[in-house]
Amino acid sequence: MRKHILLVLGTVLFATPAFAHSGKAVYEQTCFSCHAKGVMNAPKLGDKEAWAPRIAEGKPTLMNHADYGFKSMPPHGGNDDLSEQDISAAIDYMVEQAGGYPDKK
Ligand code: HEC
Repeated sequence: MRKHILLVLGTVLFATPAFAHSGKAVYEQTCFSCHAKGVMNAPKLGDKEAWAPRIAEGKPTLMNHADYGFKSMPPHGGNDDLSEQDISAAIDYMVEQAGGYPDKK
């Protein structure tokens, strides 16, 4: 019985990508200030239509734009304390909220 519970728990933990938490945390700390409400036309969290053409550019392009800036999107979302992994996780988090990458259905 106990073993069963542990097994189920283990499955749940493994099914959740390891980056999910920190990506969400980074988003909530930095990215939400523009991406929650669509400030300056930032693609909103969970807005599939706004994200679809951006997701189609591919992760390397999104990463590049988030790292170095893109139009009104400031480099690192304006937070220089964020590492490459933080940025990457935050992008993955926002992409997942908008339906995810096409190859990960
Ligand atoms: C000061 C406001 C602001 C903050 C903070 C911000 N963004 Fe953005 N972001 C924007 C805007 C505006 C755009 C849309 C740029 C455009 O296409 O005109 C954008 C677009 C993007 C895109 C899509 C780029 C593309 O190629 O279409 C990604 C990815 C992104 N942001 C990631 C992030 C991440 C990750 C963070 C947090 C670390 C963040 N942003 C924080 C304003 C912001």
